[in-house]
Amino acid sequence: MYMQRFESIFQCPVCTSPMKIIELKSVVCDQHHTFDIAKQGYVNFLTRPVHSEYDKALFEARKTVIDSGLYERLHSMIREIIDEEKAPKVLDTGCGEGSHLSHILRDVSGAVGVGIDIAKEGILSAAKYYDDFIWCVGDLANSPFSKESFDIILNILSPANYAEFTRLVKQDGLLIKVVPKSGYLKEIRDIFYTEAYSNEQTVERFKENFRNMETYQLSYKVPLHENLIQPLLQMTPLTWNKIDGANEVHITEITIDLEILVGRKK
Ligand SMILES: C[S@@+](CC[C@H](N)C(=O)[O-])C[C@H]1O[C@@H](n2cnc3c(N)ncnc32)[C@H](O)[C@@H]1O
Ligand SMILES: [Zn+2]
Repeated sequence: MYMQRFESIFQCPVCTSPMKIIELKSVVCDQHHTFDIAKQGYVNFLTRPVHSEYDKALFEARKTVIDSGLYERLHSMIREIIDEEKAPKVLDTGCGEGSHLSHILRDVSGAVGVGIDIAKEGILSAAKYYDDFIWCVGDLANSPFSKESFDIILNILSPANYAEFTRLVKQDGLLIKVVPKSGYLKEIRDIFYTEAYSNEQTVERFKENFRNMETYQLSYKVPLHENLIQPLLQMTPLTWNKIDGANEVHITEITIDLEILVGRKK
């Protein structure tokens, strides 16, 4: 089993002792805290049930949109940033249904991809579609990984935990955080009257916690096929509780407006 080759990345989320994979069935620590490997191949490391607003329909919609190639330029930009690392171990934090990680690591030779998300529905989908990755349900605030296990930490449109990023990334490793800018998905916000994204505080916090080596801006518009309108509306919290008139929504293009922050440990 793929995961077994990398069991040294795991550390018990209950007692922090090292873990082993036993009989391809469970991940067990020295103190016998045990987490089962689901038949789909992921591991649930949550020590208590967590309710997530992110459900199956949202993750399916995200998968459709990401697989459509809307974020291809983001993926190739990140691929170029991590290009210098040989056979990198990459952790995607708040990976959702795993499509970003899988697209980014396509053709990165020897890469090991690990995704963690607190929403089980996301990880379930990731494990279903993407083999040869390690998928974990878990809370970033209490993660199941040993210190300095990763060359690259990705944090794409998800909440950060800088204490954990600092613990988990190798001394010379990179943190790559993607944050929305004011124009991101603006055609949807225009319809639902939601506020523009402001990322000032997010960027501030990044710089307080990591040495900001480089910041890339990525802004473009993509023509939108009709089939993608529905999934686009479903994939984002922007429209939660507001989607009745979705059939009447006419958008012909969509704006991607992102900032990519690259940092090293202080
Ligand atoms: C807006 S979604 C982005 C998902 C994915 N990165 C993407 O761009 O498609 C934010 C994700 O962060 C996850 N998340 C929020 N808090 C988390 C935590 N404490 N630990 C792990 N994941 C978390 C959510 O479950 C959700 O999947
Ligand atoms: Zn333990």
